[in-house]
Amino acid sequence: MDISIVGTGYVGLPAGTGLASKGHDVTCIDIDQEKVDKINSGECPIYEEDLPELLEKMVSEDKLRATTNTEEAIRDSDITFLAVGTPMKDDGDINLDYIKQATKDAAHGIKNKDSYHVFVVKSTVVPTTTEEEIIPILEEVSGKKVGKDFGVCMNPEFLREGTALNDFLEPDRIVIGELDEKSGETLEKVYEGFEAPIMRTSLKAAELIKYASNSLLATKISFINEIGNMCKELGIDVYEVADGIGMDSRIERSFLDSGAGFGGSCFPKDVRALINFMEKNNVDPKITESTIEVNEKQKTRLVDLLEEHYPSLENKTVAILGLAFKPGTDDIRQSPAIDIISELKQKGADVKAYDPEAIQNMKERHPDIEYTESYQKAIENSNAALIVTDWAEFNQISRKDLKSMDEALIIEGRKIRHKLDDGITKGINWP
Ligand code: UDX
Repeated sequence: MDISIVGTGYVGLPAGTGLASKGHDVTCIDIDQEKVDKINSGECPIYEEDLPELLEKMVSEDKLRATTNTEEAIRDSDITFLAVGTPMKDDGDINLDYIKQATKDAAHGIKNKDSYHVFVVKSTVVPTTTEEEIIPILEEVSGKKVGKDFGVCMNPEFLREGTALNDFLEPDRIVIGELDEKSGETLEKVYEGFEAPIMRTSLKAAELIKYASNSLLATKISFINEIGNMCKELGIDVYEVADGIGMDSRIERSFLDSGAGFGGSCFPKDVRALINFMEKNNVDPKITESTIEVNEKQKTRLVDLLEEHYPSLENKTVAILGLAFKPGTDDIRQSPAIDIISELKQKGADVKAYDPEAIQNMKERHPDIEYTESYQKAIENSNAALIVTDWAEFNQISRKDLKSMDEALIIEGRKIRHKLDDGITKGINWP
């Protein structure tokens, strides 16, 4: 099929490249000329595992191209995916500005088309947005009738940053929210080459499935963090407890890794947006609110543990190992490291930080701390080291790295798999 995708970010580009690899003809649309030129020369403007190679291949085989001309791309395609961002506003609601503008642009394309077209919302939007905000813009600007001249679907994405391409190509399920049967049938054809169950549902249900999925995963994390804090009191290992819980097939082991709390561009934003949406609809978001509350406290629990050891942090040198919100990315959005560094600075500590990828980004948030080129250099002569991101290289920390510390104190905000000698590490959850 001929497919156009609006937005070449962390969702649009892996989806576009993935669809091209399944045999579709894909045109990516972006307002940024530089990005468009890059894609057309086979260069990938973002880092995602396996994406640069596949993108280059798809461009060279002429299955994928990019343009800034929305109207033309829509005229020449049968179906359009909307994959622009929905950032969080200060009040926790989502900002629909990009969505509205991109929808308007797309509607101009639909206006000038003679044949039936399907518009698919892939961006994360709260329930009713597709019906109450997006469809009215499409109808008004195109002058055409939804359900007759064009169809609409809502097709949420469940892509993790870093592994988005593979998550797209091998999904657990494909959720198709449809305005009517014809819209849904058309979208289902796009996914013909995928080996995943397809669920057809309403637009509103598809929108909520996305929020409920992310919120439940975030709730699993907050729950295990609460259990982890209990384990610490009992002197037992929460990872063992998580293994025991996770063997129950009704529960499942994933997203039960206790640590310094969740961050990233999705969980914090989506959980907050769901809370706001529930409140507006007179539903008391008790569990969802606690998920955020537990997470906020968890982020700086490492500092609380450090204070149990050093009641005053004034002039103590603390090494922060890991700045990214998870390993495999340079993204620091909502990373626990941001709050941990703020708290340490406020308590008068000297901070030395190391991350294999995210130092540049953290320098913009915290320009006034010391950054080191290796974890060894961060640990050197510090009073304590806090592990905030579970980068694999931290498994190599050995006794010789700790020689220069007066007291070898490492507090694990993420479980590293390799145990140092007893008594050296004081994990949140590690006795
Ligand atoms: C998430 C969802 O997984 C994805 O489906 C959605 O589309 C976007 O949001 P992402 O933000 O890329 O993806 O990261 P993910 O790997 O899910 O981790 C999110 C956060 O939770 C990270 O800070 C991670 O460290 C933390 N986490 C994850 C835990 O603390 N414990 C876990 O067991 C799993």
